[in-house]
Amino acid sequence: MSQVSEQTVHVERHGAVLVAVIDNPPVNALSHSVRAGLLDAVERFERDDASKAMVILCAGRTFIAGADIREFNKPPQEPRLGTLIDRLDACAKPIVAAIHGTALGGGLEVGLACSYRVALDSARFGLPEVKLGLLPGSGGTVRLPRLIGVEHALTMISEGGQIGSQEAREKGLVDTVISGDLKAEAIAFARKVIAEGARVRRTSDLPVPPFDAGLLATKRTELAKRYKGRQAPQIAVDLIEKMASTPFREAAQEEYRVCRELIGSNQSKALRHLFAAEREAAKIDGVPADVKPRDVNKVAVVGPGVMGRGIAICLLNAGLPTTLIGRTEESLAKAIAAIRKTYEGNVKRGTLTPDEVESRMSRLSTTTGYDDLRDIDLVIEAVTEDLEVKKAVFAKLDAALNERVIIATNTSFLDIEALADSVSNPENVAGMHFFNPANIMKLLENVRSSRTAPDVLATITSLGKRIGKVPVMVGRSEGFVANRMLSKRSREAQFLLEDGATPQQVDKVLSGFGFPIGPFALADLAGMDVMAAARAARFARMTPREQQCDIVDKLAAAGRLGQKSGAGYYLYGDDRKPQPDPAVNELLAQHRQARGFSHRDVTDQEILERCLYAMINEAAKILEEGAAARPGDIDVIWTNGFGWPPHLGGPMFHADQIGLPRIKEALDRYSALVGEEYFKPAGLIERLAAEDRGFYG
Ligand code: COA
Repeated sequence: MSQVSEQTVHVERHGAVLVAVIDNPPVNALSHSVRAGLLDAVERFERDDASKAMVILCAGRTFIAGADIREFNKPPQEPRLGTLIDRLDACAKPIVAAIHGTALGGGLEVGLACSYRVALDSARFGLPEVKLGLLPGSGGTVRLPRLIGVEHALTMISEGGQIGSQEAREKGLVDTVISGDLKAEAIAFARKVIAEGARVRRTSDLPVPPFDAGLLATKRTELAKRYKGRQAPQIAVDLIEKMASTPFREAAQEEYRVCRELIGSNQSKALRHLFAAEREAAKIDGVPADVKPRDVNKVAVVGPGVMGRGIAICLLNAGLPTTLIGRTEESLAKAIAAIRKTYEGNVKRGTLTPDEVESRMSRLSTTTGYDDLRDIDLVIEAVTEDLEVKKAVFAKLDAALNERVIIATNTSFLDIEALADSVSNPENVAGMHFFNPANIMKLLENVRSSRTAPDVLATITSLGKRIGKVPVMVGRSEGFVANRMLSKRSREAQFLLEDGATPQQVDKVLSGFGFPIGPFALADLAGMDVMAAARAARFARMTPREQQCDIVDKLAAAGRLGQKSGAGYYLYGDDRKPQPDPAVNELLAQHRQARGFSHRDVTDQEILERCLYAMINEAAKILEEGAAARPGDIDVIWTNGFGWPPHLGGPMFHADQIGLPRIKEALDRYSALVGEEYFKPAGLIERLAAEDRGFYG
């Protein structure tokens, strides 16, 4: 065995098989030293007559997870990935990629340029570049279709999803699936290849398999709907179309050109920003990286209502035995039936098997008391949004649980400090704010009090990731971050109706911006009774204009409860598509008259600016108060919680794109038009705009 070459790649000799081991933690990204080291290894392999086959293997938790994202902002440095891939492709002797963990992006492209691919049964494969607003730039779009067919390749490239080893084997991406010792098995595979004549197989020599001509058009339409406003998925189809009728080398050059162009695009910068911000959000201010989360093996959820059930599903899905605590057997039976119904829906859609449902249901237990909670490690309280009711539950939990159990509340606006005051170990109390439907929405707003222990903060963050959420830690603030900003957008949407806009105009502008749904269609979905109740709860803290802007109450009183009653801001037929309703225009006209507002034509630009800038201004106040630690946290919250279009990077990133001086100027304008109390620029915006800086410096 010999050690040569660069730090991140070393070469071992195993008889006639040379093994190149990549060791570049944490995910073996193809940074410059890896590319140089691997190129060195191939060259050495070709020169070495005693070596008849080479294996590429990775140390640590995964095969190469892609190009090094951190290098994207720098000019490409030789050897580029393309140079390495060409060298692998041209090699006169066979190379075997031995894959474990995830072979993603450039990692899969390295694999595709090898003669053979063997993989552990747990390995996964994907070309996720599109999720970063990019496309493969080193042969992914020209090799993958040749190997697995145009249709499957197009799906993987344009959607960025992953497939497992078995599927990869069935589709022809992988030659052999291995369970056990990958290195030993890969060397044995290479020896077999040598014994059978050391045949080199080049994917680049394969023809493009025939495919249905209608496929591309269908895919374009589907992608346009699913990834509204995003350019990379559409360009993926263009590349595949061109690839099918162009010689291999020419198509590969075009792919590289397109990839470089996308690296410089604003959409890709926004998506890369979010990738980094999401990972940054998991690092909690004031909690050193070596703080160990507490063990969480068994959990309880108090409150079998809609939120409690959704939270229980998340926990069950992650394999956690979960006890649901309710006041009556009837409410618990109802919850069990609802959870089962959700799972049955999954079975119908093919996302779960009946056996998986049974194993998840078997982890669920229920109780009406607090006596049997001895081995519980963490409780999530999801009862009625009322401080006194929650305090009573906290007191019961306090009496029943030992002093190490974490008590988290799912409150969306109540004061965490007051809840912490009601137990004997306030350091165990935190918020875990899920968004409805809790089993679907990715965002988890974790809330710290001034006393929450560091290991409790680490625990709720790691639990959030374990149950597949994107956890972001926030501090004390009414409505925390997501809802506090949303309430400003909702306020402006209402005020705009008073000024003369229609619900459909506002919804059209905001969905045109990229939100999946406009605020009024969303309100119809939530239900006007729910909106009216939320309004009543906040009424005392509203400004006089907000109090008198009672359109929601008027609609609710008229029985226009939204989709569920067939009418709200819109009318709904059987297809549930919102239709404008003249009766609403009439109601708005009467409201304006009663309130003394005269109708004016509101421009789309005003709608967009007032809705977005009201949120951005509030976010700046949140940052100033320290309720969010970083602007990136707010971007992660809005892209995962309320459908801010990811390719626009989140509200803070977007604000920087527009420029804070321009935003300040607009805020001043709307201060004069709508009122200082609504649009006075936050101190942070004033300061940054004066220095011509952005939230990100
Ligand atoms: N380049 C550079 N760094 C990368 C990276 C890449 N391609 N992929 C992941 N990392 C870093 C992350 O930033 C994180 O760094 P941190 O610990 O400093 O925060 C670390 O690797 C671990 O990543 P994380 O995502 O937290 O771990 P995970 O185990 O949950 O997921 C992956 C691992 C590889 C599945 C996931 O990171 C991923 O999907 N990476 C992107 C792959 C990709 O898009 N490749 C194509 C690039 S064009």
